[in-house]
Amino acid sequence: MRPLIAGNWKMHGLTEDSAALARGIRAGLGDLSAEVLVCPPFTQIAAVAAILEGSGVAVGGQNFYPAPLGPHTGEISATMLRDLGARYVILGHSERRADQGETDAMVAAKVKAAVAAGLIPIVCVGETGAQRAAGQQEAVVGGQLAGSLGAEFAGVVAYEPIWAIGTGKVPTVADIRGMHAFIRAELVRLQPEGAGTRILYGGSVKPGNAAEILAVPEVGGALVGGASLVADDFLRIIAAA
Ligand code: 13P
Repeated sequence: MRPLIAGNWKMHGLTEDSAALARGIRAGLGDLSAEVLVCPPFTQIAAVAAILEGSGVAVGGQNFYPAPLGPHTGEISATMLRDLGARYVILGHSERRADQGETDAMVAAKVKAAVAAGLIPIVCVGETGAQRAAGQQEAVVGGQLAGSLGAEFAGVVAYEPIWAIGTGKVPTVADIRGMHAFIRAELVRLQPEGAGTRILYGGSVKPGNAAEILAVPEVGGALVGGASLVADDFLRIIAAA
């Protein structure tokens, strides 16, 4: 399976800079040996999807509300994301778990609704710095996998240690290898398709460390935050794959 390089734009991007970023990515794509995805904020998904149409770069969302439609003021559904051109959706990002109080059960409900609407979920898991210092990373991530994926998961898992997000700190290659091997074993134990589930690494992935991280066994791609907002950096990460 080709590696997946996914950009999470988070809450960044007005009309002009999002369009410029999408055009910059499109202009710099060589032969794609990786699958590439960008996840802009809701307001820019349609415009970015139009710019990237036919380029081979997929577009995704960062969240949705897990009801098909109805009286949920201020929310959008998985079908609405599909309607805008999204193929993927990031779910359970640690920023949502922290800022919006998203629980494993809420993420599991979204996974089910995503698949029903034809979206591929990317479920994020990862421990805090304090949890790692206490040696709890496997217990924490194991609990998130058991609680967030549902019974027959068809999607992507992203391991994002919270202490590595936006900090410039990256786990050692040995730590990434260990956690990805643990996640693979848990997926195989918990899921009928667990052996084939793609596992991304996320947290301070940059052009300078991408090749080393992507070479780690069981790392099936990267979920990139800050470096996905600079076309040249994102393109260099794609090239490293
Ligand atoms: P950074 O690449 O900015 O550390 O963000 C990672 C992330 O949270 C991607 O979802």
